[in-house]
Amino acid sequence: MTGKRLDTSLPGTASRGTAWRLRALGFGAGRRVPVLAAVFPLLLCLAGFGAGAQDDFSLGEARGTMEQLLWVSGRQIGAVDTFRIPLITATPRGTLLAFAEARKMSASDEGAKFIALRRSLDQGSTWSPTAFIVDDGETPDGLNLGAVVCDVETGVVFLFYTLCAHKAGCQVASTMLVWSKDDGVSWSPPRNLSLDIGTEMFAPGPGSGIQKQREPRKGRLIVCGHGTLERDGVYCLLSDDHGASWRYGSGVSGIPFGQPKRENDFNPDECQPYELPDGSVAINARNQNNYHCHCRIVLRSYDACDTLRPRDVTFDPELVDPVVAAGAIATSSGIVFFSNPAHPEFRVNLTLRWSFSNGTSWQKETVQLWPGPSGYSSLAALEGMEGGEQGPQLYVLYEKGRNYCTESISMVKVSVYGSL
Ligand SMILES: *[C@@H]1O[C@H](CO)[C@@H](O)[C@H](O)[C@H]1NC(C)=O
Ligand SMILES: *[C@@H]1O[C@H](CO)[C@@H](O)[C@H](O)[C@H]1NC(C)=O
Ligand SMILES: *[C@@H]1O[C@H](CO)[C@@H](O)[C@H](O)[C@H]1NC(C)=O
Repeated sequence: MTGKRLDTSLPGTASRGTAWRLRALGFGAGRRVPVLAAVFPLLLCLAGFGAGAQDDFSLGEARGTMEQLLWVSGRQIGAVDTFRIPLITATPRGTLLAFAEARKMSASDEGAKFIALRRSLDQGSTWSPTAFIVDDGETPDGLNLGAVVCDVETGVVFLFYTLCAHKAGCQVASTMLVWSKDDGVSWSPPRNLSLDIGTEMFAPGPGSGIQKQREPRKGRLIVCGHGTLERDGVYCLLSDDHGASWRYGSGVSGIPFGQPKRENDFNPDECQPYELPDGSVAINARNQNNYHCHCRIVLRSYDACDTLRPRDVTFDPELVDPVVAAGAIATSSGIVFFSNPAHPEFRVNLTLRWSFSNGTSWQKETVQLWPGPSGYSSLAALEGMEGGEQGPQLYVLYEKGRNYCTESISMVKVSVYGSL
């Protein structure tokens, strides 16, 4: 989701220094350059990119300006075995919040976990120490993230997660919600939303929810997710009262419904919504069984996710995908950004793309953020930066490693310069 920065201090000097250095090396605007010079596992990598977009919108330059590992697996941070499932958001006040599952004992999707949080008050330059904001104890099938969404009017941040998603050593799945009224400093006790919406397994995100900025249903909070792998399908939780009450819209189911799926069955899975300039919502989804292509499924809703219809399901052959959770976001000016490991089989080559055509086509220029193992990713944008030349700041939080993508969770800041 997007947020506005309220203070008027100058943009971070780290990113500017990087830009100057890259120019001094001859990597000026208008030339395509090798996009990443990364030193791993050092905490800081620098990436340069110059794009001479020939569009009406004129994307002057987009480049990674800063990279930091926020979490490293291997029992180094709070004795946590593995960090996975990155979520990032920018609050309406301009605070960046990064979340991850802290898997206590193993890399498994099941097992006991914390929800880890780090906050940045300076546009991603520095981050608070890790706080564990939710602890599921020693449950055999503990929490799974999840989706984060901010209400721009109230400033409240909502975080959704699931308990017992796999029914491994437990009987009933629960959809849980915590919220913060102070940009993530303190959090409410968990609320069991299943008391209201039922106990059918719902796996939110992973990624961000959205708040509708345009009609229809301006102000509605929307959190999309999927069901079990047998029933599956994509559907969304909706709130029209600033997060006090939630209900499901109708979804698009997997086929065959309620039966185990095979390769090439239709099985839309982990998903990320974003709002387009016409007020419709696009939902970019994982194509679990490679139906039709090794690429992304895109659903579209014209009624703020009250309904999702089969006739509004398309496939995007440009978004080649190895079956993974991807990042997608639309800026207020209507540019759509997308991140995934851009490979038809393997989780490698974490790539950022953008679209000036509401996601119907993607620019030839891309930013390769990491050529090696890379998995889930999540996007956030800080817009409304004061002080002239800087456009939106984009943040990519992604799973990154040398040998396995579960080795760390890394944050890259991408500056988008030019008139947007
Ligand atoms: C949440 O509520 C449902 C429905 O009453 C219940 O079955 C489930 O056990 C509850 N979950 C938790 C974690 O309390
Ligand atoms: C990485 O993705 C980009 C964009 O699709 C592509 O041009 C490049 O060939 C890919 N590299 C690898 C190693 O797959
Ligand atoms: C994107 O959608 C908006 C709103 O419907 C429309 O005005 C604009 O022409 C679209 N852009 C492209 C390139 O299709």
